[in-house]
Amino acid sequence: MSLSIIVLAAGKGSRMLSAKPKVLHEVGNYPMLFHILDSINSFKDVRVKIVISSSFSQYKSEIKSKYRKVTFSTQIKQNGTADAVNSSLDESTKNSNTTIVLCGDTPLISPKTLKKSLKKFHKDNLDLCVISMIPDNETNSYGKLKFINKRLTGIVEDGEITNDKHSNICNSGIMIFKTKRLIENLKLIKNKNKKKEYFLTDLVEIFNKKNLSIDHVSCDFTETLGVNCMRDLARVNFEFQNIKRNYYLSKGVQMVAPETIFFSYDTQIGKDVIIQPNVYFGLAVKIKDRVTLRSFSYLDNVIVSNDSVIGPYARIRDGVEIKENSKIGNFVEIKKSKVDKNVKISHLSYIGDSIINSDSNIGAGAITCNYDGFRKNKTIIGKNCFIGSNTSLVAPLNIKKGSIVGAGTVINKDVPIETIVYRKSELIKKNKKK
Ligand code: UD1
Ligand code: MG
Repeated sequence: MSLSIIVLAAGKGSRMLSAKPKVLHEVGNYPMLFHILDSINSFKDVRVKIVISSSFSQYKSEIKSKYRKVTFSTQIKQNGTADAVNSSLDESTKNSNTTIVLCGDTPLISPKTLKKSLKKFHKDNLDLCVISMIPDNETNSYGKLKFINKRLTGIVEDGEITNDKHSNICNSGIMIFKTKRLIENLKLIKNKNKKKEYFLTDLVEIFNKKNLSIDHVSCDFTETLGVNCMRDLARVNFEFQNIKRNYYLSKGVQMVAPETIFFSYDTQIGKDVIIQPNVYFGLAVKIKDRVTLRSFSYLDNVIVSNDSVIGPYARIRDGVEIKENSKIGNFVEIKKSKVDKNVKISHLSYIGDSIINSDSNIGAGAITCNYDGFRKNKTIIGKNCFIGSNTSLVAPLNIKKGSIVGAGTVINKDVPIETIVYRKSELIKKNKKK
């Protein structure tokens, strides 16, 4: 029983007021379209087609590199959702038994809901199943389902509402069809509406008039939140964060103010982790066990190993690895660096393009001067070194193990093992009156 999925992503997205294609706007730092493609990843034996506009072509290769099996069809003119589906029909879709139409702007839909709806579709031998929901506000712009004696008879779009009776049950935009019926009836849709568009939702009325088998499956409203404007995008991000927060709380992560913590779609957190209020996770962050993340820390592309303490006010980014039991304190920025175990960088430092080996202590205000105006250069600090406060470590630089650098030193030459280095400058004392 073959399945075909059509993801509609060609809409102009004009209500977003943005040059970026709507479906590439991000939820949890991840494009909405990718959320959807991940949700359908678990379906076996499925053909996935994304309907795009010609201006979207530049993003095709990026999507293809991540989702090798998807194919694209281009909708030349954005004439509505039915026209988008029509433009995507090729032999492979036509040969499938069942077609699911998904909207690229509805990113929170779960595989569970899709599978549940598909199950009902098959069990009840339906020709069309609408995934429906009840919004939490009455002034929404979703299409509304119409019923006569409990039979679904149509969907009225937001701009088209007349005195007709309709319910408060709305269309999520997701529909499941018997492919044969979809194809037979698509051509019957007219664009007699204010937008002069071909609405896919008109199929409900057409199917009803032909007495075909139609129904709807109700699902959780948050899963079906659609994004048409920036306000919607903020709402979806808000719900996404709540889902993530609840997920980590259920896994035993300790957060006293979860509502202040922001996760990315791929954040990984281990056991017995404490996250104090106001912590931000960018992409590719992995926190291992028993780590404490103190308030106002900003992490982006970093792995933190067991028993380390980060922050408050730490910024760690662009490919950093922090090994076991290290301590990164306040106002410390670390970029593209490897910090080995038992290292302390407790206050006010910038560490960039560096390797800091185990058991070293980096004093307050130590700065790696990694950029010479042309290139980024590396700093290596050996095991068990002590770098004094307010030092400038001018890279490229190799400070070998067991060495000590005196406070206030500008150091631009490599330091051999077990060496003490400092700059001697005389302290001048003058009597003010002379
Ligand atoms: C649509 C539904 C509405 C539903 C809502 C759920 C229709 C006519 N209306 O309205 O019943 O409640 O979604 O969020 O289907 N698209 C194309 N080509 C086009 C037009 C749209 O590919 O010519 C794509 C868009 O990129 C988007 C999806 O189809 O991903 C839905 O289009 P959109 O304009 O957002 O429709 P809504 O007004 O949200
Ligand atoms: Mg929409």
